[in-house]
Amino acid sequence: MPDLKDKSIIVTGAGRGIGAAIAKALAADGARLTIADRTEADAQQVAEAIRAAGGSAIAVTVDVRDRTAVRRMIDETVRAHGRLDVLFNNAGIAQTKPFLDITEDDWRTVTDVNALGVMIGMQEAIKTFRSQGGGGKLVNTASIAGKQGYEPLAHYSASKFAVVAMTQAVARGFGKEGITANAICPGVVATEMWKVIDQGFRDTGITKSENEAFDMFAAGAVLGRPSRPDDLVGVARFLASSDSDFMTGQSLLVDGGMVFA
Ligand SMILES: NC(=O)c1ccc[n+]([C@@H]2O[C@H](COP(=O)([O-])OP(=O)(O)OC[C@H]3O[C@@H](n4cnc5c(N)ncnc54)[C@H](O)[C@@H]3O)[C@@H](O)[C@H]2O)c1
Repeated sequence: MPDLKDKSIIVTGAGRGIGAAIAKALAADGARLTIADRTEADAQQVAEAIRAAGGSAIAVTVDVRDRTAVRRMIDETVRAHGRLDVLFNNAGIAQTKPFLDITEDDWRTVTDVNALGVMIGMQEAIKTFRSQGGGGKLVNTASIAGKQGYEPLAHYSASKFAVVAMTQAVARGFGKEGITANAICPGVVATEMWKVIDQGFRDTGITKSENEAFDMFAAGAVLGRPSRPDDLVGVARFLASSDSDFMTGQSLLVDGGMVFA
């Protein structure tokens, strides 16, 4: 078992999907969770499910693009759990658009959440880690799209490359203070996000039927099936625990074998 007992962990975008699966698993390991999401009802529901299962969790509403809200999320966590040990910057959005149709607004919409949000999250967490005397773990959700560019998701891919780059930069910048930064790169995970991507493929005429894009992408996984949110739990547990203390700046592909890098 990893040593997560009483560790104070924030997971953003934990109201559903991958974030909810990670948060529930870490709470079951004994960590004290902050379930942070822009959708208050979803955050409350996940926190309540954790408490009903005997775990410890608070819910916080946050928009990761808003520094004041991110600061409040961390301060509420420190108030409730006494400190902050790990921040999972997991909140993200996707949009499918042929490259020539991506507008400036589309670019800003996607990169503001996926890249700017991760930057703000890491900055505010590092301030708190320093005020606690140093040490702390940052875990960012990137993607296979942070390792390879995909044409109908070019701006999404760019935002995830940015996550990988910032993970490396922060690892280099703050390692001496005992602060580590790593990223998780999921593949094709059956969540609400993929419904949005799949719909986008159909809207732009690239695919015709429901789940066609999902099945097409998932077929690339050598382990023979798409991912489920729970497939990301093992790596999340590792990166939150002291088992990963000597690892930093890495972006780990956990995708069933889609991208080898
Ligand atoms: N589903 C996949 O196939 C896949 C693959 C690779 C990477 N990812 C990444 O994994 C992460 C989680 O994705 P998911 O599939 O669970 O998606 P999801 O859409 O099911 O969940 C994302 C959560 O993030 C929240 N969120 C969105 N914008 C926010 C904001 N501005 N502030 C706070 N919360 C916000 C949403 O409310 C939602 O609860 C994302 O960063 C995504 O890019 C997903």
